[in-house]
Amino acid sequence: MTRQARDDLDTPLTDPVGRTLPEFPEPAPLASHGPARIIALCNQKGGVGKTTTTINLGAALAGYGRRVLIVDFDPQGAASVGLGTSPHELDRTVYNLLMERGADYREMVRPTSVDGLDLLPANIDLSAAEVQLVGEVARESVLGRVLRAAEEEYDVILVDCQPSLGLLTVNALTAAHGVLIPLECEFFALRGVALLIETVDKVRDRLNPRLQVDGILATMHDPRTLHSREVLARVHEAFGDQLLHTVIGRTVKFPDSSVAAEPITSYAPSHAGATAYRQLARELIARGDAA
Ligand SMILES: Nc1ncnc2c1ncn2[C@@H]1O[C@H](COP(=O)(O)OP(=O)(O)O)[C@@H](O)[C@H]1O
Ligand SMILES: [Mg+2]
Repeated sequence: MTRQARDDLDTPLTDPVGRTLPEFPEPAPLASHGPARIIALCNQKGGVGKTTTTINLGAALAGYGRRVLIVDFDPQGAASVGLGTSPHELDRTVYNLLMERGADYREMVRPTSVDGLDLLPANIDLSAAEVQLVGEVARESVLGRVLRAAEEEYDVILVDCQPSLGLLTVNALTAAHGVLIPLECEFFALRGVALLIETVDKVRDRLNPRLQVDGILATMHDPRTLHSREVLARVHEAFGDQLLHTVIGRTVKFPDSSVAAEPITSYAPSHAGATAYRQLARELIARGDAA
């Protein structure tokens, strides 16, 4: 809706749970870059939109002139594939950065088709790290330590976690300033979120006092179904204002853009899905959760 059309209405715009939708202004360009805010995309349930959100939020933030690094932290390597790399052809990945003393992140980082958006890729090698890290000193803080130099170069670092609460995810939470929790709008979505929040609380108490929950992002919402609307209402009831105003609708354009190995913001820039991720980027910037 245009500004003009909005002014013609007596009632303000609302979000999908009926709250007044604030305006999220076009972010001002940044004069300089870094230090980065690190956001872990986390939910131990698979298929809820972590990777899709990492890629498309990253691309949207880059579209606003932010320097963004995506860290693929799932041995499945879906973020790497979704950004156009073939993981089995990669010889050095985030795994090497974690395991090789003195390795420089610049050796593993690669540019993507999106200006300002870089990728620290992963492949199946990373599954060995879960076991190998167990014997390390300060095994929970390895990712945070190896990302320290990258923090100076980027405005936002997004860590795409694997669907588990194991040691890799604990590393992501220990490195992060904030956690963004994608939640699929379906019946069992809320199961497991309590355990995730408990894990976040433990990591904050024991390892990373700065860690905060940035928000819960409802994904795959279908406003035409009563079911989807009910789930969203329950999430709002349970989490209040931790539920972000921005809600991502269910659309086949997301799987389509993964097949094309492009973010939706370049694959179909005027599609509602692209608009939603740009709004998410502006909402996080307006909340102070991103630069
Ligand atoms: N909003 C959406 N609408 C429709 N399909 C989606 C949406 N978000 C993600 N998907 C699809 O759902 C599947 C799982 O999403 P993904 O982001 O990989 O989840 P996760 O990383 O949590 O496992 C993928 O095939 C993806 O393309
Ligand atoms: Mg994923």
